[in-house]
Amino acid sequence: MDPKTSTVTTEAAPASTLIRGRLLVTDLEVLTVTPTSAVISWVTHATKYGLAIPEPIAAGTEVMIGKVGGPMQLVHDDPTPRVYHVVEISGLEPGCTYRFRASSDGQLAAAALRPTKTAGCCERTRQFTTLTLPKGRYLSTIAVVNDIHIGEHRQGIVLGALPTSVLPHADQADYPRIMAAAALDELTSRHQHPLLIANGDITYDNAPEQNIVARELLDGYGRQNHDWVATRGNHDHPRRDDDPFGEYFAGYQQTQTVTEASGLRVLAMDSTRGSGGGWITPDQYEQIMTELIHEPERPTLACTHHPVTTDAAWSSASGPQFMLRGRDRLRLQLIERQAPGVFLHLAGHTHRMRRNRADLGDTNAHYLENAACAAYPGGFTLVHLFEGGYLVNFWRLSDPEALRWIYRSRWQSLGIGAHLMLGSTADRNHRVDVDLSGLIPSGRPVPAELVC
Ligand SMILES: [Fe+2]
Ligand SMILES: [Fe+2]
Repeated sequence: MDPKTSTVTTEAAPASTLIRGRLLVTDLEVLTVTPTSAVISWVTHATKYGLAIPEPIAAGTEVMIGKVGGPMQLVHDDPTPRVYHVVEISGLEPGCTYRFRASSDGQLAAAALRPTKTAGCCERTRQFTTLTLPKGRYLSTIAVVNDIHIGEHRQGIVLGALPTSVLPHADQADYPRIMAAAALDELTSRHQHPLLIANGDITYDNAPEQNIVARELLDGYGRQNHDWVATRGNHDHPRRDDDPFGEYFAGYQQTQTVTEASGLRVLAMDSTRGSGGGWITPDQYEQIMTELIHEPERPTLACTHHPVTTDAAWSSASGPQFMLRGRDRLRLQLIERQAPGVFLHLAGHTHRMRRNRADLGDTNAHYLENAACAAYPGGFTLVHLFEGGYLVNFWRLSDPEALRWIYRSRWQSLGIGAHLMLGSTADRNHRVDVDLSGLIPSGRPVPAELVC
């Protein structure tokens, strides 16, 4: 195979020109790895002083790549000055380890975030291994996007006058809509419009106008519970006197069930209680049990806005009080163990990408926290289903306006948030072997990156 590359074509941020000695080529990320492609990104900016967001500096983009043990070749050399460097390399071989060299104007891109500096990680070794396809026929693809936060005005934890949250530039004031619209566009134009799970925190505080905007965006994508399903997040919690989310999307503590063309069951639950933590009410347990007892073996993708593992609860910077109640976390996992068709449980809320360790050792279900759409890391996840398992791939938005906001929102929470949210390359991209042979091919074309 001959590697080919592509990149976004528009400048990602207003930028200064290069001044030697000030240029940092940094935030190297091996973002997406599929069986035949990889997306490598980094940014160029001035040396950061104090708490300010560093000044973007535009520079060229170069990538070399080669199989480990073989020669490297220059596959991308673009002198166009850019701040946000995103290079997608396609035409790779599945299950093959590559080494790479990413640079701007000859200066090597360096890792800066904690998960990109751990021993053995892709950014530190400057190596990655392409995924391999699960066994059996391709069945379908499901997309998940969460933490859209329509109506939000600044991103990150707000602590009084402290600069812990990031204010958008004037032309980014509507960043939640910019990001959500870009995600829906890219899912349609590039990824053939999969069934979409919008997994909570759809709005900022459940105001009617926020629900109207969110509903318009999703209606543009297709029909509710056919093309998309929306769960409630803590930000969408009912207000004192009304519940616009209940009117526009789904009632409080109501479980929704959607059947995808492959026969996959999507079980979309409401885990919300108030402004932070969550619970499941007895009535909703009845709904969940009724659905799962009906066909416990049927391949099922479960989702709640809140993560449901102790691992997630105790590893989150916000602490376990921000999570689903302990007894509900365990009860949901027990229910999912009794319905062995439940093979994956998706969550949002923590705005991070992280595979969880299940509390129960002998369960079929895997647990995954998906990063936010509204801000850094800024994207969506695709779950590609095969008869013998599934692939997970996180895709950052490639829209230039979205990249400008991702550059800025990377500095939320005094720059600490990004270290906690990105996850490892394997958190964002992995294969799980599980028997999904109870499903049928949906008729969707096989995504290009899965054609080996
Ligand atoms: Fe959120
Ligand atoms: Fe949340």
